[in-house]
Amino acid sequence: MHRIKRRNSKTIKYMVFPCIFCRVRGDLVSNINHEYIQSYLYGVIPPSQGILKELEEYAEQNNVPIVTPDVAGLIAVLVKTGRVKRILEVGTAIGYSSILMGTHMQSYAGKDFSIITIEKNEESAELAKQNIKKAGMEDNIKVLTGDASELLASVEGSFDMIFVDAAKGQYMDFMEQSIGKLKLGGLFVCDNVLFRGMVAERSLLKRRKITIVKRLRKFLEFISKCEELQTTIIPMGDGVSISCKLKEVSFNEKA
Ligand SMILES: C[S@@+](CC[C@H](N)C(=O)[O-])C[C@H]1O[C@@H](n2cnc3c(N)ncnc32)[C@H](O)[C@@H]1O
Repeated sequence: MHRIKRRNSKTIKYMVFPCIFCRVRGDLVSNINHEYIQSYLYGVIPPSQGILKELEEYAEQNNVPIVTPDVAGLIAVLVKTGRVKRILEVGTAIGYSSILMGTHMQSYAGKDFSIITIEKNEESAELAKQNIKKAGMEDNIKVLTGDASELLASVEGSFDMIFVDAAKGQYMDFMEQSIGKLKLGGLFVCDNVLFRGMVAERSLLKRRKITIVKRLRKFLEFISKCEELQTTIIPMGDGVSISCKLKEVSFNEKA
């Protein structure tokens, strides 16, 4: 067994694995990347500052899953490359990823950016609102409290990017309900799509996760084959999918 302590609770959660997964040198972190690769990358990524650092510490101490540092870096690149200004997020938790995306948008858009983020856990949503206020982004980031599968249909506006980081078994539903709100050329980004390697490797599959894994596989197959999307799946963190919307997506025959 191997245990590695990291600054982020999402990572810590997946750190302990039997040696059966050891290959080359060290174990597979999150069953997706080798520990030595992840250790190296985490050593290269500059540490966060200010409120983001505080939230990382809070997340670690309170077992709140937030995006891992490598995924945070990917999101930063996507946001800045696309000069993204309007984001719809599913899965706020304590507001870490919202504030992260807001911080990057602020760097080129000043106050001219907006995020709508949805969180079903009331306590988390309240905490996120407090953190967003502390970050001075309360005019730009709106937290909607409730189940995204019920709220998404009523969200108004057009978005440059949609970031999904919530119930993994519902990614297809979240997509069906939100992709029409993504502008052409916009990005549909999902975290945790490889789900601790279970999506790719049968021997890792836990019985109670079978339904989630089947749904994730169906989702990944859909976004990969869909001609209206250009998709890539990256084995980073717990797996990230990025789909660029080329045309309006029709679900009728495919879903
Ligand atoms: C991984 S955490 C989000 C982390 C956050 N994106 C970050 O990196 O800072 C997932 C969150 O999604 C929320 N969630 C799960 N299913 C949801 C749903 N159907 N609607 C809204 N929120 C949901 C959970 O309560 C949890 O707080």
